[in-house]
Amino acid sequence: MILVTGSAGKIGQAVVAELQARQCPVRGFDRVPTPGLKDAVVGSITNPDDVRSAMDGVEVLIHLAATPDDDLFVERLVPNNIIGVYHVFEAAREAGVRRMIVASSGQVVWGSRLTGPWPLGEHATPTPRYWYAATKLFLEGAGRAFADRYGISVAAVRLGWCPRTPEQVQEIAQLEWAQDVYLSPEDAGRFFADAATAKTEFTFAIVYATSIPKKIARYDLSLAQKLFGYVPTQTWPEGIETVVGATPPTG
Ligand SMILES: NC(=O)c1ccc[n+]([C@@H]2O[C@H](COP(=O)([O-])OP(=O)(O)OC[C@H]3O[C@@H](n4cnc5c(N)ncnc54)[C@H](O)[C@@H]3O)[C@@H](O)[C@H]2O)c1
Repeated sequence: MILVTGSAGKIGQAVVAELQARQCPVRGFDRVPTPGLKDAVVGSITNPDDVRSAMDGVEVLIHLAATPDDDLFVERLVPNNIIGVYHVFEAAREAGVRRMIVASSGQVVWGSRLTGPWPLGEHATPTPRYWYAATKLFLEGAGRAFADRYGISVAAVRLGWCPRTPEQVQEIAQLEWAQDVYLSPEDAGRFFADAATAKTEFTFAIVYATSIPKKIARYDLSLAQKLFGYVPTQTWPEGIETVVGATPPTG
């Protein structure tokens, strides 16, 4: 069984759809109902009982639930991106989960995205954008500790930009670097499904996931390919039609 937290979100829905298409047993977890998924727990990652109730029989965890960008620190980032990570990781360990694929962000190497040296790889010095990126470094650190201490395979994924709103689509259309790190929902679904199901052995890995870069390969996709067989199939702006209200950018 594969558990997807944040299953009702932009990336979560794409991941669930891809896992269903591959006929993998999948369970969702989100604070709102997950469209098109019967086996979906409604609860909060800030509540350990909610999280534990979703872990029965889970072998692989895909952890996406979070506040997905900078926001109120004490009210949102701390509960969802720090305390929630603690509850999800601990419940996964208690339940005997063997592999965890957890969503970090390209915002942890924000300062280097414009300067390089490209492609930024697993050893790139963290240059976090702000508090949200700092919470993702916490998640990466907790993931490494879990791999070392418990022998659970943990991959922290520095995701490119998968737009959630028409405004974000327009932003990407104006920014050359953003088109290079664009991640289409379909490629996001494929990445996580590949990472969850690949017959591979690893302890801890930091990998990057984007679609095919428009001009410059700013993030190194080679480890994701080596470990999980992930190969992106789309490039900006392919796939943006799944962002509600988005229209193809002009120019
Ligand atoms: N979309 C991107 O460009 C991008 C880039 C880098 C990293 N990420 C990361 O990928 C993950 C998914 O992002 P997304 O773009 O799909 O965001 P999203 O906001 O569309 O999805 C997040 C989901 O998490 C759920 N959630 C939030 N707090 C929760 C809680 N306390 N309990 C249960 N569920 C909760 C929300 O209801 C939502 O459905 C996040 O961890 C985000 O930080 C996204």
